[in-house]
Amino acid sequence: MIEVSSKKPSQFTGDLLVYFVRQSEKKHAPVCSDKLVQERINQVFELGDCLGKKDECLLIYPERVVDGVRAKRLLVVGLGKDDLSREVFRRAGGVVAQKGLSLMAAKLFLVVPAELDFPVVEMVECLCEGLILGSYQFKKYKKEDEEEKSAKMGRISLYIPEKSLAAARKAVKLGSAAGQAGVATRDMAHEPANVWTPQAFADYGKKIGGQGRLSCRIIEQDEMARLKMGGILGVNQGSALPPKLVILEYRTGKTVPTLLLVGKGLTFDSGGISLKPGEGMGDMKYDMCGGAAVMAAMEVIAEEKPHRLDVVALVPATENMPSSSALRPGDIITQYGGKTVEVMNTDAEGRLILADALAYGVEEFKPDAVIDVATLTGAVVVGLGHHRTGLLSNNDYLADKVLKAGERSGELMWRLPLADEYREQLKSKIADLKNIGGKHGGAITAAAFLQAFVGETPWVHLDIAGTAWDYTEKPYVPKGPSGIGARTLIELVRGWQ
Ligand code: BES
Ligand code: MN
Ligand code: ZN
Repeated sequence: MIEVSSKKPSQFTGDLLVYFVRQSEKKHAPVCSDKLVQERINQVFELGDCLGKKDECLLIYPERVVDGVRAKRLLVVGLGKDDLSREVFRRAGGVVAQKGLSLMAAKLFLVVPAELDFPVVEMVECLCEGLILGSYQFKKYKKEDEEEKSAKMGRISLYIPEKSLAAARKAVKLGSAAGQAGVATRDMAHEPANVWTPQAFADYGKKIGGQGRLSCRIIEQDEMARLKMGGILGVNQGSALPPKLVILEYRTGKTVPTLLLVGKGLTFDSGGISLKPGEGMGDMKYDMCGGAAVMAAMEVIAEEKPHRLDVVALVPATENMPSSSALRPGDIITQYGGKTVEVMNTDAEGRLILADALAYGVEEFKPDAVIDVATLTGAVVVGLGHHRTGLLSNNDYLADKVLKAGERSGELMWRLPLADEYREQLKSKIADLKNIGGKHGGAITAAAFLQAFVGETPWVHLDIAGTAWDYTEKPYVPKGPSGIGARTLIELVRGWQ
């Protein structure tokens, strides 16, 4: 729980009182707004222990009489020397969260450095995101380790000068909502594939839909057959669990543009008959991270009720399993809308389920823009590593918008090209397309495949295979699924003009 307060820090008697400092020029100690804390910082600066570097923190046990501080502990958190940005405060929030957790601090008081040259509301918003994301833990299945179970994030107050309190309260709301969306995405991802099934996606959709302006509808297997969704049905053929296509609709009730979001909800990707190697296969329970991000974003969008935009989300959900009924390499399927695909490799399944969802979504909802989020290719990890999401698009304007939203969210992306040459690689001798484009440029040929199903509609594809887990280490991103994508989508909708 995070609240704002203009009570003096010196009156705080809780567990952890936090100050933020900038790294200063070589010979000077970092500057702190509190005189007494400053003396302590000067003292340890001489030892080289407190420079105010980014992600650095210094824990001080004040002598209460001497320091006049009533808090049990002081924490000085470095903001570094680079230009201040939203990300600087997100990271700082993460540092506080991790320290607070390890100390099992029940009451925290953070002095927001309003004197610095950066908008206070954005500081507050991003600190909140960092605090929530940085204190994330998934301990649902830890039944025995009592000590680990009991570590929880405590109550947090942010000290803000009186005049900024109202604005700061709004910023706490924004930051907390975005942070919670990241948390929800991680929670879904952490669940194993025997728990987080296509049915679980449907249940989640029904839980968040059906209230306010958000409605939820599930397309079940028999309806998929009537609609001729050969991609989802084909990928699902080897699985004992029925597929689901979750549709969430946020409607303003006015005549406004429609944004369509599509998330890959592959609850387990064994590769199918083109079986993956055993090593690391367990990670393929995370192949639903795109779907999770889209669902979590919709939850926040429905709460915030934007009035400039209708938003529709589609999550095609299924497993990809080998069995005697599974799709075979060489099989030809017919996607929604009639295009035929020669399935050369059953492990390139994501594009098959997305193609149905994209084609259906474009036809049914006539969106003005489409964004899909998917753990689509190993190739994007080869190209960009774990530090950038791959972005591919048929529209420069939309691509820029999404890149900027990613930048503001601290979820960095890098655009890769799309062009006719890549589409050539997908030509099949006996069908309209084949589902793999050969060895080279795999992230691009996968996107080129999807492009065939969106027509001329402005569209952005986000390949999060490298960033959905094993993501760049950051104080607010613990190991495991990162929850990437949801905050970018929320930011995009918030800033939609
Ligand atoms: N879900 C995988 C992509 C993936 C790989 C995500 C590694 C995260 C980490 C996808 O379904 C897949 O298997 N893609 C194949 C495509 C290939 C057969 C053309 C791949 O990337 O190996
Ligand atoms: Mn696969
Ligand atoms: Zn996959």
